[in-house]
Amino acid sequence: IAVDIHPTAKEGSRAVAQEIAALIKSRQATNQKVVLGLATGSTPKYLYAELIRLHKEEGLSFKNVVTFNLDEYYPIEPDALQSYNRFMREQLLNHIDIPEGNYFIPDGTVPKEKVKEYCADYERRVEEAGGIDIQILGIGTNGHIGFNEPGSSLSSHTRLVTLDNSTRMANAFEFANMSQVPRLAITMGLSTIFKAKRIVLLAWGTHKAKIVRRAVEGHSTDQVPASLLQQHPDCKFVIDEQAAEELT
Ligand code: F6R
Repeated sequence: IAVDIHPTAKEGSRAVAQEIAALIKSRQATNQKVVLGLATGSTPKYLYAELIRLHKEEGLSFKNVVTFNLDEYYPIEPDALQSYNRFMREQLLNHIDIPEGNYFIPDGTVPKEKVKEYCADYERRVEEAGGIDIQILGIGTNGHIGFNEPGSSLSSHTRLVTLDNSTRMANAFEFANMSQVPRLAITMGLSTIFKAKRIVLLAWGTHKAKIVRRAVEGHSTDQVPASLLQQHPDCKFVIDEQAAEELT
């Protein structure tokens, strides 16, 4: 895996925003769409802020952009404070000119008996859009990508999963208390993620240093889902100096 180390998260995020902007512009020149896979959580916040800045200050248009989010809690209402649907609207979508209908976020309100069908449909939509050009990922401290927890299969598709306790604890700060953190989530699968033409995983801060090392330098194992990215033909990690601390 290629690793780009930047002094700070902001600088790393700016570099990734530039790469995305360049792809959007080159496709605009030939009237083609760009399909982005997007993550939520604290990691991509600077990236989204920078994309908004590029839109507002430098006229970058998102009219030819289609986005698919990785995951969403289940069940959850789209307007709930912790919903990833709400996160995306607040952190990015409401502030750019992406057309209504061009962005997709797993729906945390689908009735349980319809979830399978819904997930297959989500998968199909990604394919119909032409597949993901650039997939943005964060990394959980247990190595998860999307909500593909340790043990997830490389052949997994979009599906309902059970969150690890460690993931629920890591995300508990967003909720009133631990018991409020959903036990389930809908996530793109590892095979869905792997079909992306290019993958860019972001990681900032000392609390990510150990898992970044295991993902980059350790064995490629399903016990550390991010380490499976070593097998992807075009994947890079963009990290800050703190997250790089443990790399040898
Ligand atoms: C969220 C997602 C997760 C996060 C990971 C890190 O859409 O896919 O895999 O990227 O849990 O979360 P943060 O960025 O909050 O440290």
